[in-house]
Amino acid sequence: MRFRGSVAIDLGTVNTLVWVAGRGIVLEEPTAIAIDTAVGKVAAVGEAADALADKEPQDIQVIHPLRDGVIADLDATAAMLHAFLRRTRRFGVLRRNALVCVPSGATPVERRSIVAALSVRRPRYNVRLIDEPVAAAAGAGFDLTGGAGGFIVDIGGGTTEVAAVAGWRVVRSHSLRKAGNAMDEAIVHAVRNELGLIISQRAARSLKTTLGVTGGAEGFAEAVGLDVAQRTPRTEYVPGGLVAAALEPIVAAIAGTVHEMLSEIPAGLAEDVVRGKVRLAGGGALLPGLASRIETAAGIGTVLVEDPLRCVIRGAAEILERKDKGKGTHVGPGLRQLATGRARARCLCRTGLSFPSYSSGCLAMAGGSRPASSQPTTAAIVGMPTRMNSRFIVGTLDSSDRPSRGLSQA
Ligand SMILES: Nc1ncnc2c1ncn2[C@@H]1O[C@H](COP(=O)(O)OP(=O)(O)OP(=O)(O)O)[C@@H](O)[C@H]1O
Ligand SMILES: [Mg+2]
Repeated sequence: MRFRGSVAIDLGTVNTLVWVAGRGIVLEEPTAIAIDTAVGKVAAVGEAADALADKEPQDIQVIHPLRDGVIADLDATAAMLHAFLRRTRRFGVLRRNALVCVPSGATPVERRSIVAALSVRRPRYNVRLIDEPVAAAAGAGFDLTGGAGGFIVDIGGGTTEVAAVAGWRVVRSHSLRKAGNAMDEAIVHAVRNELGLIISQRAARSLKTTLGVTGGAEGFAEAVGLDVAQRTPRTEYVPGGLVAAALEPIVAAIAGTVHEMLSEIPAGLAEDVVRGKVRLAGGGALLPGLASRIETAAGIGTVLVEDPLRCVIRGAAEILERKDKGKGTHVGPGLRQLATGRARARCLCRTGLSFPSYSSGCLAMAGGSRPASSQPTTAAIVGMPTRMNSRFIVGTLDSSDRPSRGLSQA
């Protein structure tokens, strides 16, 4: 697949970003779609749909089709993505190749559903997937060529991806299903329980960004909601301590995961990690007070990357551009395409006893930075091919263009 004329898509639980070669980031919208249930048609997507969430207008159902970084509603995701991509067509000819970022912990079925979302309806896209931590690391400024590595923490809306990466591949990773959305929910519960006020997810998000775990500049923030008993609107000053206490279990889980992953990196990667520092990306990394908590847990330097909400798409774009320039072809970005037809046949050939096109990558990544076994395709490529992992490759890469009945229900 050629990469020139491709689009890169960061399909996030909360935000979706699209990058087009030669144009840059052309779309940044909430991952949301509103359906007019009276006529069964799409009423709005992105910002316009998200603005209707929690307001329950008649005959309108607002769907946030991703949960914890993966597709929860395939039809809604497909409709939303095609609407977004239709908008980007004004930036040039129709681009049929798409590189999509997926959480490192996504299962093969979850990965296939992402491909399906872009291939169930016309125009069909050729989809390649990239592990989010690799894209985030590239966007965070790590140069992963020549086996170089780094440590990245991407705190999004649905997942927190904590990963050590090297040579454009994941070395160790953990995808924690606790991130920005879980923080919002924790605040909604705390405000209801402690102050008797029912607030929306949007109001909780505002309290989170203002107060964080530090309590903010003033130590409190205003929130408007419904009184639990009266069911009438009420304004309340929410203390910073209440929000910090609600966020504490999630912040502690994130900091704990960072510590745990750092304790699992191969010794050969330690120097790269210390030199490059722990880099924080994703919108959740902006939470006031979170960076210093992670730095304490990590015990090494920790930095917030520039423009953390765009870090993943920046990295995906860089990876596409590297591919186009033919850079890093030996130890290049580990893209995955779910193979069909002739591609499947080529894939089957590669699962023989020799792996000519990958062998130099194996050598460059020797010395302790082997990808985690939780990454079946990359692990199989780097490790010695055996009959067993050969079958595994076919099983994970092989897919039809259309989702099976089971897949569309996933
Ligand atoms: N200033 C801020 N302080 C705290 N949280 C913030 C801030 N700005 C944005 N966020 C949170 O960041 C999250 C969105 O970040 P991002 O766009 O990186 O997630 P995503 O890519 O959609 O999700 P995921 O990667 O988990 O699928 C939301 O939960 C949002 O509330
Ligand atoms: Mg994300």
